[in-house]
Amino acid sequence: MEYEVRVAEVDGEVVGFVGWRGSRILALYVAEAWRGRREVGTALLAEAESAIRRKDFKEIRVMVDADASPAQRFYLRHDYEPQQGRDHEDFVWMTKRL
Ligand SMILES: CC(C)(COP(=O)(O)OP(=O)(O)OC[C@H]1O[C@@H](n2cnc3c(N)ncnc32)[C@H](O)[C@@H]1OP(=O)(O)O)[C@@H](O)C(=O)NCCC(=O)NCCS
Repeated sequence: MEYEVRVAEVDGEVVGFVGWRGSRILALYVAEAWRGRREVGTALLAEAESAIRRKDFKEIRVMVDADASPAQRFYLRHDYEPQQGRDHEDFVWMTKRL
C-alpha cells in the first residue's frame, strides 16, 4: 500500500501535513504558529478520512501520545475512541468507524 500525503498551505506556505497508509494515519503535524485554531488539523484530518473512506475502509486508526495529550484531545473531539491495551505505555491506539 502506498504512503499518501497531503499538505495544508496558506499563502503558498506549508503549514501542516497529514500522512497515511491504508486505514492508518501515520503522521499529522501542524506548524506551531497554526496550532490550536481548530482549523488546519481539522481540515487535514478531514482530507485523510475522506480519502480512506473512498478506499472502502470501515475504520480509521492512529497511535497517539497517551495521557490527555493535546493530540489525544484533538482526536477525541473528532469522535475517535481510545482502545484498550497498549503496545507501548506512552502511546494509545485510537479508532473511528467511517
Ligand atoms: C495535534 C495537532 C495535529 C492538532 O492540530 P490543531 O490544528 O492544532 O488542532 P486544534 O486547533 O483542534 O487544537 C488541538 C489542541 O492542541 C492544543 N495545542 C497544542 N499545542 C498548541 C500550541 N502551540 N498553540 C495552541 N494550541 C496548542 C490546543 O489548545 C488544543 O487543545 P484542546 O483540545 O484542549 O483545546 C497539532 O497540535 C500538532 O501538530 N501537534 C504536534 C504533532 C502531533 O502531536 N500530532 C499528532 C500525532 S499523529
